[in-house]
Amino acid sequence: MIQAEIGNATPGEAGEFALGSILNGGGSSPGGNKQASLDDWLSLADAYYDAVVGQERFADAIPMLWGTDAVHGHSNVYGATVFPHNIGLGATRDGDLVHAIGVATAREVAATGLDWTFAPTLAVVRDDRWGRTYEGYSEHPDLVVEYAGRMVTGLQGDAGGAGFLGQGRVLATSKHFIGEGQTTDGQDQGDAVCSEEMLRDVHGGGHRAAIAAGAQTVMAAYNSWLGNKVHGHRYLLTDVLKGGLGFDGFVVSDWDGFLQVADDPAEACARSVNAGVDMLMVGGEWRRTYHDLLQQVGAGNVPMARIDDAVRRILRVKARAQLFSGSRPSQRPAAQDSNALGDPAHRDLARRAVRRSLVLLKNDGVLPLRRDVKVLVAGDGAHDIGKQCGGWTLTWQGTGNDAADFPTGTSIFDGFAQAVPHNGGSVVLSPNGEFGDEAPDVAVVVFGENPYAEGDGDRNHLSYSALDPQPLAILRRMKERGIPTVSIFLTGRPLWVNPELNASDAFVVAWLPGTEGAGVADVLFCGPQGNVGYDFHGRLSFSWPRHALHTPLNVGEAGYAPLFPYGYGLRYRDNGEIGVLDESDVAHGLPALDGTRGDGSTYPRCPVAAEPDD
Ligand code: GLC
Repeated sequence: MIQAEIGNATPGEAGEFALGSILNGGGSSPGGNKQASLDDWLSLADAYYDAVVGQERFADAIPMLWGTDAVHGHSNVYGATVFPHNIGLGATRDGDLVHAIGVATAREVAATGLDWTFAPTLAVVRDDRWGRTYEGYSEHPDLVVEYAGRMVTGLQGDAGGAGFLGQGRVLATSKHFIGEGQTTDGQDQGDAVCSEEMLRDVHGGGHRAAIAAGAQTVMAAYNSWLGNKVHGHRYLLTDVLKGGLGFDGFVVSDWDGFLQVADDPAEACARSVNAGVDMLMVGGEWRRTYHDLLQQVGAGNVPMARIDDAVRRILRVKARAQLFSGSRPSQRPAAQDSNALGDPAHRDLARRAVRRSLVLLKNDGVLPLRRDVKVLVAGDGAHDIGKQCGGWTLTWQGTGNDAADFPTGTSIFDGFAQAVPHNGGSVVLSPNGEFGDEAPDVAVVVFGENPYAEGDGDRNHLSYSALDPQPLAILRRMKERGIPTVSIFLTGRPLWVNPELNASDAFVVAWLPGTEGAGVADVLFCGPQGNVGYDFHGRLSFSWPRHALHTPLNVGEAGYAPLFPYGYGLRYRDNGEIGVLDESDVAHGLPALDGTRGDGSTYPRCPVAAEPDD
């Protein structure tokens, strides 16, 4: 019932305490080396296996589970294929693609000797100020429901089928149960203030679909519902999830999430287990939690029947995952699949996902680009695979990564360099947009959010230029010189970019595309024969704001008046003229979010949006 972090529990300690599970948290890897090799991962998995299964004390030794955040590919592992984050997959409207990504991800996770991914995230995101917006597929529950089962069966195989949890498959996690996308002002780990009907109908569908598809684990959510922490919410975790929904796998806490339930750690542990948490993901003090739980059971504060139920659920999942009939991780057939990690077929799949995720917001005709033009590629996102991957990539926040951390993959600029030159075309990289005497035919400016994860990405308004005015300056300089401009926007959420839209002749949202940035050029350039190679396909799965405080903004809500609605996305055949947009920034002067919530003051409410013009 105790899950410890690999940085805090050696294999020897895992064996001594007979731990049931370990995890590598975001940015944690064997030996603390983010460039750890496939063999490093397999060797450590073997070491834990041997330490626990090898114990003489247990005739039928109980193998442990190793869980990881493979949330957009096996993204913690050097050399893995990193797929677009879920917000980009939402724009593809392609469930088959989501399923195929699940299959590929499971293959890469199993190849490293791990058993379980904490994915998919099934948040229905209702306020885009939330730092985890990009981990969600959409603001619309129906799209989350559609994708939930596809990702789960991609990862685990079809429930009841021959390949279910077989070789090359891993356990999935329906997370985070429940209501994380409903918190006030989008505050991470905040309070979801809504009716039970909304919790069920808007935020519960993805979990129901995941469970129907055979998801074997559910991760409890950090947030509260009407002021009560979900990690201590017996009605939600036991009566609804295990009773009403009939979930027969096990519930894992989020990272130390159970400790938020009460001030005293031992009491918190007891209340969380009694509420229905079966496995405690312990970020740091796992020995304390181990002893606390034993002490709480001994004191009669946790009934033995609850312990038996939790253990039974965990053993049931381990049996279904064929752990008891399995072998050392490195001896498993999936671990012999040494080409799995970064398999070119997976990278092709990721590149296709990038193409299908792009959303064209504006095009006055500058796109598609011919291959015989002189292109200048500017912006700090042009040649930075770390930036295009976003959070949960090699490091928890996705920061601190550079080209050497990505042995495979292509930046967006790399894609342009591959597409041009043909017949006299050229491409120049100039992050600050400067150029010499010879002006380019077109300037492409790649810019956007720097990587973040969880609460570090929370914002109190949606104005992009308020945080980074440089791209707008580059765009405006180009316009002054009469050079057509194309913006490629890397972002984990819709943001207010009216000034940048006005300074762009075409504007493409690329979301957080992952390692295969060349997928962008595939769509922006004509094919080799001068025709359109790949048309735009993406459609917004999140509504786009009219101003920087225009959130919450969700299709179907009263007064819905977005700049670009849910489902919007131009094709080359469409007239992409959108006119001149209002640049008055209602968020101007708002204090930058300093990461503290201070007095818990509520953020400025969005003024009621005026009805749109006809
Ligand atoms: C984090 C996240 C959760 C993740 C877990 C393990 O805090 O909330 O999504 O799976 O910890 O890294």
